[in-house]
Amino acid sequence: MTVLSKIASGAAIALTASIMSISAADAKNFKIAVGDSGGSSQEATGKAFVEALEELSGGEHTGTLFLNGQLGSEQDTVNEAAIGTLDMSILAINNVTPFSPTVGVFSLPYVILSLEDAEKLTQGPIGQELTENTINDAGVRIIAWTYTGFRRLTNSKKPVKSVADLQGLVIRVPKNEIMIDTYKAWGISPTPMAWSETFAGLQTQVVDGQDNPYTTINAMKFYEVQKYVTNIRYIFSIEPLIISEQVFQGLSAEEQEMILEAGKKATAASAQFLRDNEAEIKQILLDEGMQIDDPENNEEEFIKLATEAVWPKFYDSIGGIEKMNAVLAEIGREPVSE
Ligand code: MLT
Repeated sequence: MTVLSKIASGAAIALTASIMSISAADAKNFKIAVGDSGGSSQEATGKAFVEALEELSGGEHTGTLFLNGQLGSEQDTVNEAAIGTLDMSILAINNVTPFSPTVGVFSLPYVILSLEDAEKLTQGPIGQELTENTINDAGVRIIAWTYTGFRRLTNSKKPVKSVADLQGLVIRVPKNEIMIDTYKAWGISPTPMAWSETFAGLQTQVVDGQDNPYTTINAMKFYEVQKYVTNIRYIFSIEPLIISEQVFQGLSAEEQEMILEAGKKATAASAQFLRDNEAEIKQILLDEGMQIDDPENNEEEFIKLATEAVWPKFYDSIGGIEKMNAVLAEIGREPVSE
């Protein structure tokens, strides 16, 4: 081997080594906070996202789920992601609303009436607009949607079938003005409490009840501390996977594309998870000894009180009555007027 070819082959080895080290240094393991525990819809979304990301990146990139609020309360994780100290979080939309009020439209009582409504709104132009708003308002980007189902009321004291039955109960709600006002419209003053403190609050009977979907009630083992479930359907729980915008902007265009594509796959997997499992999970709650009641008169009283008092109060924060009507039109519902 001539000196020149020795130098050339040495240079080639060095180049390969440096490519390899760039590639090893670029391999990413995203830290993903998850508010709920194992078995939840949130976990299903997270697992589907990680699996898709690994597949799309040929195994180079992955993510680790930190379940059950290990990385802090859901609202805290929005702050962490905004400043770039956390990569991603999966949390209920009601816990994003304080940072980006227009997403509150998804928590207005009785707007979303089915999984199909939720899919249409989140995956269409409205979802796109709200995604842009959260980037601008909160420094986080929604990359996938979890569909967890209707939030059902649970409590440890008595069956609740009417608004009258609700009186006297101490109900925990997220720190979300729309949800607080909804309970006020039903005649009680609820107790705002972080999600990460809710199980302990129910266990120690600081609060009598709370609301969340069947899959969440099951994953969080609320049947150990709650007996009665009321099938109200006031909010269809949507729980996005968010990425820190700072982290996202630090990725290459190719990596960004992979993240967005993995998010789409996770969204589809989440809808499938709900369709496949919700009925079975309801049965598990019954088997665990919970009593599940339907509200009287097809929930009419709950619906009337909540929509009349709460909708108009929040038109401004969600972007005006026109925005409300755009949302209603998207899911084939009649417009409202001032
Ligand atoms: C809450 O009640 O704060 C959330 O909906 C809980 C969750 O993320 O499942």
